[in-house]
Amino acid sequence: MSAPSDPLVQGSARTVLELHGITKTFGAVAALTDISLEVHAGEVVAVVGDNGAGKSTLVKVLSGVHPPDAGSIRFEGKEVTVPTPAAAHALGIATVFQDLALCENLNVIDNLYLGRELRPFRLNEVEMETRSWELLQQLSAKIPTIRVPVASLSGGQRQTVAIARSLLGDPKVIILDEPTAALGVAQTAEVLNLIERLRERGLGVIMISHNMADVTAVADRVAVLRLGRNNGDFSVKDVSTEEIIAAITGATDNVVTRRSAARSQHETHVGVGGSTPR
Ligand SMILES: Nc1ncnc2c1ncn2[C@@H]1O[C@H](COP(=O)(O)OP(=O)(O)OP(=O)(O)O)[C@@H](O)[C@H]1O
Ligand SMILES: [Mg+2]
Repeated sequence: MSAPSDPLVQGSARTVLELHGITKTFGAVAALTDISLEVHAGEVVAVVGDNGAGKSTLVKVLSGVHPPDAGSIRFEGKEVTVPTPAAAHALGIATVFQDLALCENLNVIDNLYLGRELRPFRLNEVEMETRSWELLQQLSAKIPTIRVPVASLSGGQRQTVAIARSLLGDPKVIILDEPTAALGVAQTAEVLNLIERLRERGLGVIMISHNMADVTAVADRVAVLRLGRNNGDFSVKDVSTEEIIAAITGATDNVVTRRSAARSQHETHVGVGGSTPR
């Protein structure tokens, strides 16, 4: 997948994004505490967690909306800061927020190029149309015509347009916040196919999701957040849905908590009760 001479290659995958010790508080609320996350090129990492687990805050830290209070972010091997959305964009971190931020009354091409029309002071309509088609075709997007207003597209098609739009900046990492929420079965399948195209293009994909079926269908790894902390990082092929849900709800908290308790209080007897800690 990656060039073997690349200094960042570890095993077969190149690390594009690495977070360590990310902490973010809002007043008395600890939204994120000591979060680690690693994303490789050509990998889909699902970030899952219950309401209030810190998923959106993590997305906002990575997209330059909220600077973290502590911790480090490494992007393509270099320590970086992401103080603003423009900084995230310049680095190559694209975010598709849940509300998609599309203009309903504009057509697909205009939405794709909104704010970055080709050539200063002159819209090159033909080139924008050609490039729009090329991009959507590369993504195998099922959009019948790019001259229709976005308002008339299905939810899945809108998601596709929003993702295509974020790809124009040529990002290395793309963050999708709940990309299949509120989509029907066929549209969900369409978006999951699209996520696979992104992986094939070598992007690191972070997908926030509540839907375990989607996560296990498309993700390579699952990072679980619980109460603003890491609560498990699993390879999808080695984990069951039940195990992921247990980590989300805290049913496996005992295992994790007891394990750390056992570590710090070696001499004290701790009953781990037969479960296998990671
Ligand atoms: N701007 C803010 N000001 C104050 N508290 C906030 C702010 N943003 C998030 N929080 C708090 O931080 C915690 C994590 O919230 P976050 O929105 O990141 O959770 P989430 O995992 O995205 O949840 P959901 O699944 O409900 O979207 C919550 O307790 C939330 O109330
Ligand atoms: Mg959220």
